[in-house]
Amino acid sequence: MDASLTRLTLTRPDDWHLHVRSGSLLKSVIAHSARQFARAIVMPNLKPPVTTVAQALQYREEILSALPAESNFQPLMTLYLTADTPPTQIQQAAESEHVYAIKLYPAGATTNSAAGVGDIRAVYPLFETMQRYQLPLLIHGEVTGEQYDIFDREKLFVDNHLSEIVRQFPELRLVVEHLTTADAVQFVSAAGPNVAATITPQHLLYNRNALLAGGIRPHYYCLPVLKREQHRQTLLAAATSGNPKFFLGTDSAPHPTHLKENACGCAGCYSAHAALELYAEAFEQARALDKLEGFASFYGADFYRLPRNTDRITLQKQTWTVPDRYGEGEASITPLRAGEQLTWQLENA
Ligand code: NCD
Ligand code: ZN
Repeated sequence: MDASLTRLTLTRPDDWHLHVRSGSLLKSVIAHSARQFARAIVMPNLKPPVTTVAQALQYREEILSALPAESNFQPLMTLYLTADTPPTQIQQAAESEHVYAIKLYPAGATTNSAAGVGDIRAVYPLFETMQRYQLPLLIHGEVTGEQYDIFDREKLFVDNHLSEIVRQFPELRLVVEHLTTADAVQFVSAAGPNVAATITPQHLLYNRNALLAGGIRPHYYCLPVLKREQHRQTLLAAATSGNPKFFLGTDSAPHPTHLKENACGCAGCYSAHAALELYAEAFEQARALDKLEGFASFYGADFYRLPRNTDRITLQKQTWTVPDRYGEGEASITPLRAGEQLTWQLENA
């Protein structure tokens, strides 16, 4: 690709993994996603979690009413799986025109996951129902438990759970969310076409030094946690490979600044303010800007069996400084790269 490229026009992308919260936080973040993405898979880990189709429809209405007036942004809803989810909810979700997937959080793995699944084998009958209805299962792939080192939790989940899930449910449509390790990349690459994965901008741009070297930087703390450089390089290679199994999912996860800059800081990086710009920087680093459109705009839609978007957006090579904060007071959020420069900027933003 031309090293002096100064404008990059792409089919409008979608975000296949997004947290927008509710109430005042929702109002301060939603426009950021809506100005660049046409659609987003919205995560259900609210307090309390979104476990039924009725709740998902209500949450969808709340999101729609928080959007800027002229926006066509479409929230694609998901249900939060629990040990008590009745198979009829899976069926209703499959039949709903607004629910697109079921999200599995291992209990205790991450933010608002306490109501998640403790014993994964106990929900196999629900996987069976999802497989039957062709409803995608989205997985937060980390084992839980004090005894497991935080840097090993994703690999252990791949070895102890994912391999068995795909063996038992070979037709189940599965997205392994926010990959962080070479082990998970290898697993997804080797699996059938019904198994795909999302990759976040922070895991393409940073290794664990960003979080821990020279001082602890809570705004780089998310789960799964940033890993070694060797894993980042493998993720970057997967994202820029043109393999349709790997697609964009920001995992943008806003938390108020005072809960991140805290003795026990929350997990989650806020990236929606500059998602595409951050991905463009990563792809440029890999000299693969020509692969960005497939990753950002085509492969996710294809996996979810939705039409690709037809309108376009343009990024220009222009340096700008990310604000220190978005939102106000209790809902104030510190974005990824706060106060630092980015080299790409969305046109008409
Ligand atoms: C997410 C959140 O804050 O909801 N946090 C994160 O670190 N990624 C939850 C999640 O996706 O794990
Ligand atoms: Zn997430």
